[in-house]
Amino acid sequence: SGSGLPILVQRTISKQIQMVHSVGKGRYGEVWLAKWRGEKVAVKVFFTTEEQSWFRETEIYQTVLMRHENILGFVAADIKGTGSWTQMLLITDFHEKGSLYDYLQSHCLDTNSLLVMAHSTASGLNHLHTEIFGTKGKPSIAHRDIKSKNILVKRNGECCIADFGLAVKFLSDTNEIDVPPTVRSGTRRYMSPEILDKSINMHNFDAHKMADMYAFGLVLWEMARRCVTGSDKLRQADEYQVPYYDCVPSDPSFEDMQQVVCVKKIRPQIPQRWEGEEVLQTLAKVMQECWHSNPAVRLTALRVKKTLSKLDTDTSI
Ligand code: ADE
Repeated sequence: SGSGLPILVQRTISKQIQMVHSVGKGRYGEVWLAKWRGEKVAVKVFFTTEEQSWFRETEIYQTVLMRHENILGFVAADIKGTGSWTQMLLITDFHEKGSLYDYLQSHCLDTNSLLVMAHSTASGLNHLHTEIFGTKGKPSIAHRDIKSKNILVKRNGECCIADFGLAVKFLSDTNEIDVPPTVRSGTRRYMSPEILDKSINMHNFDAHKMADMYAFGLVLWEMARRCVTGSDKLRQADEYQVPYYDCVPSDPSFEDMQQVVCVKKIRPQIPQRWEGEEVLQTLAKVMQECWHSNPAVRLTALRVKKTLSKLDTDTSI
């Protein structure tokens, strides 16, 4: 288990946690900064209606070989009973810089920090998607809710992937997909065309990975817009915007997204400004190959990671 403590001992750790203050709210519940054994941790408190998300997320974090520098670090899962009231908690590493979504609102990036963020997120996604064979192996996992709010920024500028409440595991020995029994679905704004037109074959595991790659393409666009180009008086970046900000309302309906992504086949616009910068030009190509209409021709996380690794070293000499 993540904290190195036996499960039986972990079940009471909530008594040793001091909640400090709330750092975010969502449909799932609330995330708090807290202190545990003198260390800062993040405590995600789930709404009782989100029991299945807590269960699934806890299960995913406890999967062997889940620990990776670009996957949010698991500390413990707990159920706090206050009489008739039960609270489900998930305790993880705390990241001061918050989510990628929050970070991009107030920070511009240079090409190097953009590459570090894009490459590290691709690494985390590749680790998740990759099956490791053997007795102590790891199943292939698809996230199903990739978006900038589910990615955290670490102190070293790398990113890590969070929120596994919707994740699916692929058990290759039985050829079966282990789908969580939740009614929850991914965030509509980031849904791939095949999810929106209902042509996705849920029984094909690769289809879930390809849908993750579509959403990751949108995240790359959100990051790249915030990258500064030009020098001195001509330095500029695009303001932060969510994907499809200019064609759907906030909290778009399924039908809003279907019209834009499947019928009109619209994708985020690539600004002209990016043409003069090698890193942005390469990233533009990568994101377009991630959000392609045909899921079968989209880049894999491994391919994105390798493409960005080459750029990484080319620019650091
Ligand atoms: N917001 C959501 N999860 C977080 C975490 N683990 N650290 C910091 N901010 C967060």
